[in-house]
Amino acid sequence: MRKLPLNSPTPRHSAKGQAGQGVKHDSAWKHVSGQARYIDDLPVPEGLLHAAVGHSDQAHARIVSMDLDAVRQFPGVVAVITAADVPGHLDIGPVFPGDPVLAADLVEHIGQPIFAVAATSHDAARQAARLARVEYEPLDAVVTVDQALEQQLFVRPSQTQCRGNPDKALAEAPNRLQGQQRVGGQEHLYLEGQACLVEPTEDRGVFVHTSSQHISEVQKLVAEVLGLPIHEVQAEVRRMGGGFGGKETQAAPLACVAALLARATNRPVKYRLSRSDDMIQTGKRHDFLNSYDIGFDHDGLIHGADIMVAARCGYSPDLSDAIVDRAMFHADNAYFLDQARVTGHRCKTHTVSNTAFRGFGGPQGMMIIEQAMDDIARHLGRDPLDIRKTNLYRPGRDITHYGQTIEQQVLPQLLEQLEASSDYRQRRGEIDTFNRTSPVLKRGLALTPVKFGISFTARHLNQAGALVHIYTDGSIHVNHGGTEMGQGLYIKVAQVVASAFQVDLDRIKVSATRTDKVPNTSPTAASSGSDLNGMAALDACEKILAGLVQFASEHWSVSPEQVIFSDNRVRVGDLSVPWAEFVQTAYLNRIPLSSSGFYSTPKIHYDPKTGKGRPFLYYSHAAACSEVVVDTLTGEYRVVRTDILFDAGRSLNPDIDLGQIEGGFVQGMGWLTTEELVYSDDGRLLTTGPATYKIPAVSDCPPDLRVALLENSPNREATVFHSKAVGEPPLMLGISVWSALRDAVSSVTGYRFSPPLDAPATPERVLAAVTASKTWQAQQKESA
Ligand code: MTE
Ligand code: MOS
Repeated sequence: MRKLPLNSPTPRHSAKGQAGQGVKHDSAWKHVSGQARYIDDLPVPEGLLHAAVGHSDQAHARIVSMDLDAVRQFPGVVAVITAADVPGHLDIGPVFPGDPVLAADLVEHIGQPIFAVAATSHDAARQAARLARVEYEPLDAVVTVDQALEQQLFVRPSQTQCRGNPDKALAEAPNRLQGQQRVGGQEHLYLEGQACLVEPTEDRGVFVHTSSQHISEVQKLVAEVLGLPIHEVQAEVRRMGGGFGGKETQAAPLACVAALLARATNRPVKYRLSRSDDMIQTGKRHDFLNSYDIGFDHDGLIHGADIMVAARCGYSPDLSDAIVDRAMFHADNAYFLDQARVTGHRCKTHTVSNTAFRGFGGPQGMMIIEQAMDDIARHLGRDPLDIRKTNLYRPGRDITHYGQTIEQQVLPQLLEQLEASSDYRQRRGEIDTFNRTSPVLKRGLALTPVKFGISFTARHLNQAGALVHIYTDGSIHVNHGGTEMGQGLYIKVAQVVASAFQVDLDRIKVSATRTDKVPNTSPTAASSGSDLNGMAALDACEKILAGLVQFASEHWSVSPEQVIFSDNRVRVGDLSVPWAEFVQTAYLNRIPLSSSGFYSTPKIHYDPKTGKGRPFLYYSHAAACSEVVVDTLTGEYRVVRTDILFDAGRSLNPDIDLGQIEGGFVQGMGWLTTEELVYSDDGRLLTTGPATYKIPAVSDCPPDLRVALLENSPNREATVFHSKAVGEPPLMLGISVWSALRDAVSSVTGYRFSPPLDAPATPERVLAAVTASKTWQAQQKESA
């Protein structure tokens, strides 16, 4: 099945809901009718307690004393614990140490948990937690990337990837430009906040209901804080109300706190964060300070580049090492940089530890090279799309600065197709005319590509397991290590299984992800959920099928080639047996109807010491063309139209994929336009709710949004049915909006000046860019 030749049509659609068919999300109906259960909807167990934590009020300080008497005496409080009450490990850093489950004597950000309370109600726990009297000895706090760079304060060592001699190439290039940008962070704002429910089991262990993308890590860390072997702890997640990376590592601390309280009281404990606590206590997308130094010829072709990316990581490493790596891997986006150096800094600050967010550093890395493309175009007086096309990877110029060859060239053709279908050239002409005659409103247009590497950059995470059972009525149960956060992973894996057995999709049921069904799972992240778990499930199916084929050929005395699964039946020679009857016969003949499956991604390797390797099995590609209109008196703007073309390979489910693309694009647009995280100078987050932190609303979406999947473009790698990952890449299509805003502002100077525009490009920043453009023009006139 998986060895389908590349030129073959999509898998045979002999039954309903096979891989390749558009099928709605298995929980779509339950999501909209309110019947889908999240942690806080689960029936409440007898004796339930509620957790809250007391958190640090200081960005960086020593705890001199902590008086918790008032907390303990508050009505309804059953237990109060501190670091001293943790029986096992105190440090729950997911990859590198640095995250105490409760701070003992040093606090390193405002919002860091220092003690935990269990009480009979959610409100009692929260109110009690505020009554602590904590005395601090303040220490110097580092809040911004600039401060951290100045003091050389990093959570992990800086890294460099280098090819050739960029310094020489820069010195010799006919043209040279330098630029800098700030790219903001982003709050996940998942609709369901962080939540877990922990029940003590009859021995020493606990059962954890968690809203986590990474239940095996939750299981392991809970076992470690309790001082238990991993098998005493089980974790389960049926679904998350959105994760977006925010529940990859950052669900675990809650589970650890709740588990400690559950063990201390021997009662079940629920721990759910209020929205403001969620925004204060949990990490976000890293904001970056980026710079470039680029040399190019008169056609805009890049000869050399020196790029720096620096991320605000917060107080601990969390996933920042891999995130900054991914930013470095994507500092080229879709362009051949020739002689190039990319340096990445992991800045330590006394703020919350920033974490995974859709794109995982990739988006922030791409932003700098996309700024450079626009700047080169303005410098040469060319259309930015021409500069982008000139520098695109293509045969002969197809090796990245980290040494991976782009084996499947998709973008040159994809860009041509989108340029035509979006009427780019014609609209460019219309916009020029409009801008020349419109003094206040200015239109802008940009077409930007995305090339996104697929695989975890931590090699060992590229593995997955699955479990498939066929019951005697022919119904099929599937479990796999991937988690469902709304992205449609369960339905895609179910479709893969339906295709493997050639039965209708409604015969397949995928159950909640659990550590005792499939062990040692990787996080569902890096867009690789369906690649990994789809293949693991397919492996399980193939093992069962092998046994069934052998059985049928012996039982009915035909050759194995004469056993054919199709349309809910099994043809055995001249006989055609209905699926359920076939399964029943196999069962009576004692043939195994259950199997586990396993998959590990081939071909990938990377050596951080040399900065070279093949970190990705393949790339997903896309491009977007966005048009905006800007009011140059106020800085306000609207996105009027966006066209997207996306390479999902041979899509497993085009309906789900279109949803992912629309949602990802809008989320990326929000990141670069209205979503702004504001910190005070002493490290306090000031935007702690949707009233001050603005995510896109329906009315912010382009009224004209045209999304299409690239056709006839199967993945050349042997992924599940030659599909490609779709989860994260569409977020980066939001860059087209940011670039279109710069384009509109640039029209103020007749496209001669490339206005600086940090992200998020709020109306205030757009207005500042307009002002800077007008100032530049005035200076030009003066000097003329
Ligand atoms: N889509 C929805 N609806 N909700 C989410 O939380 N997370 C995104 C993306 N799409 C997310 C989503 C992120 S960050 C990733 S890595 C992928 O889904 C993970 O799922 P996949 O690997 O199965 O695509
Ligand atoms: Mo996604 S940021 O890899 O969870």
